[in-house]
Amino acid sequence: MSASALVALDERLVELGGPIYAANCASCHGTNGEGTADWRVRAEDGSLPPPPHDATGHTWDHADGLLYRAIRDGCDSYSVGTTPCNMPRFGIRLTDEQIRAVIEFMRTWWGPDERAFQQEVTKSDPFP
Ligand code: HEC
Repeated sequence: MSASALVALDERLVELGGPIYAANCASCHGTNGEGTADWRVRAEDGSLPPPPHDATGHTWDHADGLLYRAIRDGCDSYSVGTTPCNMPRFGIRLTDEQIRAVIEFMRTWWGPDERAFQQEVTKSDPFP
């Protein structure tokens, strides 16, 4: 775990991101980022259910760059081959700033350990 100080949340982006999350993401990923029950269990068609974005999931495991691409490009950002995937592509609906804002909002669900880890992995894959 990194000893470096946590970067403070950008409150303006957090406020912008909340309603964007509620309107575009909550239906699948849960109002509070809790995801789907049994999100690790593939459906009959082989697809994975929407994972949580809170500290119980693995969103905080990924760098800002990867999260940005996952939201902008949806399933196109995954190398899943023929496995069905149900994450929509939001690059056609959300601006660059809106995508950054929704990521900033999701950080509010992470504790200091998750945020420190995510900050560290982001060094090698920052926002585009
Ligand atoms: C129609 C349902 C649906 C909606 C709406 C949706 N997602 Fe997803 N999302 C998924 C699914 C399903 C996956 C898992 C895809 C896979 O691994 O095959 C996923 C994966 C992700 C991932 C990468 C996995 C991880 O580590 O957490 C991120 C980040 C993400 N979604 C963010 C968002 C954000 C932000 C929004 C709103 C702008 C959103 N999603 C809206 C279904 C959805």
